[in-house]
Amino acid sequence: MKFVHSGKVKDVYELDDKNLLFHFTDRVSAYDVPMITDIKGKGEILCKFAEFWFNCLDSRNHMVRLDGKDKMVVRKLKMIPVECVVRGYLYGSLYERYTSSRNIADLGPNLKIGSKLREPIFDPTTKSKIHDLPISEDQILAKKILTNDELRYVKDASIGLYRQMSEISNNAGFIMADVKFEFGKDPTTSEIILADSLGPDEFRMWTIDSYKVGEEQVSYDKQYLRDWLTKVGFRDIVKHASEDGKKPIPPELPSDVINELLKRYSFVYEKISKI
Ligand SMILES: Nc1ncnc2c1ncn2[C@@H]1O[C@H](COP(=O)(O)OP(=O)(O)OP(=O)(O)O)[C@@H](O)[C@H]1O
Ligand SMILES: [Mg+2]
Repeated sequence: MKFVHSGKVKDVYELDDKNLLFHFTDRVSAYDVPMITDIKGKGEILCKFAEFWFNCLDSRNHMVRLDGKDKMVVRKLKMIPVECVVRGYLYGSLYERYTSSRNIADLGPNLKIGSKLREPIFDPTTKSKIHDLPISEDQILAKKILTNDELRYVKDASIGLYRQMSEISNNAGFIMADVKFEFGKDPTTSEIILADSLGPDEFRMWTIDSYKVGEEQVSYDKQYLRDWLTKVGFRDIVKHASEDGKKPIPPELPSDVINELLKRYSFVYEKISKI
């Protein structure tokens, strides 16, 4: 088995010329910085989330089978270098862009943090090793990353998948605020297939009970870790380090933060997978 890539989260091996093996590790990264502390058990739960969504979404996907509790065999694809983000709510970097230039994607006037958008929007980013940046549909076409038809396909597929995931989440008592999809092309047929992973590293999840417009939400995803890092000043360290071209040194994650993050991931998984 050939080692191919050690990503921020997964280790990828080539099983044969058609299949890859994803090992969901216990590594965690935030603000595009790998943390020095592992989160024991995270890989297993992320693998279970991915299996759950791939099984229940009605879209062709790359999953072949599970191999143990934290490994998945997937079809090897030619990845499309765009992160297909869909947002149903104004939060995170979209909220920051909205408050700094009000006319973003014509979202509507006077929206607050956490406001539900009129319709889910397609908000793609580049897929970069360092920091993903927003990219417009026009730029995707101009850079010939996708043809017109391919772009329409991934956009419609992403919005459709978000709607399905939202409905399932809603039925379990959650709001899925946004989600990121990656697609790849089948090397023989060029068919576009849903790939990568779907779990709390890819979406923002809030409970319906705690949701309040105009406030920071209680989150059941990686935002909990980002919020803790912001509280201890690490977000500012990341900002300054990138201005100075230096590598930020992450703090050790305390065990209560690790335990709470895992508890939140499991809480969502248990509720959603039992619907
Ligand atoms: N079916 C597939 N075939 C080939 N590559 C895939 C497939 N599904 C996902 N990938 C790629 O495998 C890598 C998974 O590793 P991981 O997500 O841990 O990396 P990462 O550090 O997040 O890298 P990236 O920022 O590129 O996603 C990603 O680059 C992803 O695009
Ligand atoms: Mg990734």
